[in-house]
Amino acid sequence: SQDLYILAIESSCDDTSAAVLHHRRTLSNVVATQRIHEEYGGVVPELASRAHQQNIVPLVYRALAEANIDKKQLSAIAFTRGPGLLGSLLVGTSFAKSLSLGLGIPLIEVNHMEAHILSHFIEAPGKTPPPFPFLALTISGGHTQLVLVKDYFDMKILGETLDDAVGEAFDKSAKLLGLPYPGGPLIDRYASQGDPGRFTFPIPKVPGLDFSFSGLKTSILYFLQRESAHDPEFVEKQRDHICASIQATIVEILMRKLKKAVAQTGVHHVAIAGGVAANSGIRKALAAAEKDLGWVTYVPPFEYCTDNAGMIGIVGYLKYLDGRFTDYRVSARARYQI
Ligand code: KG4
Ligand code: ZN
Repeated sequence: SQDLYILAIESSCDDTSAAVLHHRRTLSNVVATQRIHEEYGGVVPELASRAHQQNIVPLVYRALAEANIDKKQLSAIAFTRGPGLLGSLLVGTSFAKSLSLGLGIPLIEVNHMEAHILSHFIEAPGKTPPPFPFLALTISGGHTQLVLVKDYFDMKILGETLDDAVGEAFDKSAKLLGLPYPGGPLIDRYASQGDPGRFTFPIPKVPGLDFSFSGLKTSILYFLQRESAHDPEFVEKQRDHICASIQATIVEILMRKLKKAVAQTGVHHVAIAGGVAANSGIRKALAAAEKDLGWVTYVPPFEYCTDNAGMIGIVGYLKYLDGRFTDYRVSARARYQI
C-alpha cells in the first residue's frame, strides 16, 4: 500500500504549529507559542495573526526537517478551517491553499474541535485509542464541549459551555489571586499543597449537559473581597487552600456532567482532550471513576492536548483514507460546528 505523508498546519488561536504524519504516527510536531500575549493577560487577535504570519514558513521548514522528509514526498496538506480567531485562521488557510496548489497535492480542511477529539487516534506509546462509541470532553482555554463520538466523522454535541471555557475559569480565578497568565497550571501546582475542602464555592445549576463557569468567577471575586476586608493578607496566607478549593469545584462541575452523560448514553468509555486535560485534579477524578464506576478513561499525551498540528494531521490522514478532500474555494470560519 501507498506511503502517506500528511503536512498539517494549525493556526486557530495563539499557537502556530506544523506537523508531519506518516499514517497515524507524528514524525514531527512543532509549536511556536506566542509569548507576546502574556504581557496583555490574554490573547490579542491582531498580534496573533501577525505572529502566525511570521512563524508559519520557518515552522513548516522545521517540521519537514525534523521529520527528515522532502516536501515532494508529501501526500496532502491538512489545515484548521475553524473554529477560532478569524485573522489567525486566515493565515493557515491561505498558506495551506498555496502550498497545496504549488505542490499539486490535495488540500484537506479540518475542524479544530474534531481534531482535539481525534487526537486520541495518533499513535502513542502505551496508548490504546477509545472504541466507538465514546464520550469526549474537550476542555481548554477556548472550549468546553461534551460530545458523543459514534465514528470518526459521526459526532453529536451533547453539551457546551454557555459562557466561559474551563481554561478561562482557571485563568480568571488565577488573575483574581494575582497570578500571571495563563494561571491554570499555577492553580494546579498550588492546589496540590492545599485542602480542597477548606472553602466551598457554589456548583451552578445548568440544565442538561451544558456548562457554566461565569458564576464561579463572580463568587470567587466576592469571597476574596469579603475575606480580604477582614484580613488584607488573606490571599497570601490561604493561597494553596483557595487554589485547591477552586480546582475541586471546577472538577466537580465537570465530573457531575460526565456522570450524567454516562447515565444518559450508557457509554462508559470517556476521553478528555484540550489543555486543561493536563490538570491533575481532573486526572485523579477520572482515575477514581475507573476504579469506582467501571469507566474506561483516555487522556492523550500532553503534547497532543494543547493546540498542536499533530491532531490536525491525524484528521487529515483519516479524511485522506476516506477521500474527503477540500475545494480551493474553501474559506476560514470563526464559528464552525462539528
Ligand atoms: O489547549 P490549550 O493549550 O489552548 C487553548 O486552545 O485554549 O489550553 C490552554 C488552557 C489555559 O487556559 C491554561 O490555563 C489551561 O489550559 N491549563 C490548565 C493546566 N494546564 C493548562 N488548567 C488547569 N490545570 C492545568 N494543569
Ligand atoms: Zn484548542
